[in-house]
Amino acid sequence: MTLLPFSFDQALCQLIAGPVSVAQEPDAILTSLVQGWGNALWVAQPEYLAACLQACLQSPGPVLECGSGLSTLVLAAAARQTGQPLWVLEHQPRWWQQLQGILHMYQLSAQFPMAPLQDYGPFTWYAPPLAEMPTAFTRVICDGPPGSTPGGRYGLLPVMRERLAPDCLILLDDIERPDEQAIAARWAAELPARYHIAGQDRPYGVIQVLNSSA
Ligand SMILES: C[S@@+](CC[C@H](N)C(=O)[O-])C[C@H]1O[C@@H](n2cnc3c(N)ncnc32)[C@H](O)[C@@H]1O
Repeated sequence: MTLLPFSFDQALCQLIAGPVSVAQEPDAILTSLVQGWGNALWVAQPEYLAACLQACLQSPGPVLECGSGLSTLVLAAAARQTGQPLWVLEHQPRWWQQLQGILHMYQLSAQFPMAPLQDYGPFTWYAPPLAEMPTAFTRVICDGPPGSTPGGRYGLLPVMRERLAPDCLILLDDIERPDEQAIAARWAAELPARYHIAGQDRPYGVIQVLNSSA
């Protein structure tokens, strides 16, 4: 496992000790985490992490993350506070193994199955262990699978639709990319959902599923 800098360790311990107070003033802690984590273009940025932290702290039910990394540690710290289940899908065995080690080192936990990518015909997406998973996720943090996957992140909707709570909130990273914009618009039309772009430094999509039974 790569040695993480001391500043990263301090910031993560601070987050774990008080995720609610970090959520109130997230900038310094989340910036230290992002800088210490490295992984250049692949890591979520502080603004998106702050939104994920808030969303997870306010989640009334289980949280699903698609694509693991630094965000998984942030979500696991929040889930420890709320007691809500956190499920994380990851397709790369070595990345999964590293993350498992770091979660263990900080005594954080998540339901973290290896979920290989599967060809569903029109798109490719994770093969989640549906039989073991919650029936109604109230938050989805969507930063995977990688953009090079056929269909990108679209598969969340057809594969997990029956497992999204009627008022589920989805946070989609990388919305500056035309592919992610097309996916968010398609989800919004098909769910149906309301969709807007948030964030100033590196925008992300906010997709609010509309409760059709309300
Ligand atoms: C955008 S990354 C997820 C990043 C995560 N949300 C974070 O905050 O670190 C999506 C997927 O890319 C893969 N990945 C992560 N880092 C990578 C790298 N440096 N090169 C190639 N793939 C990577 C992992 O399988 C991960 O689930």
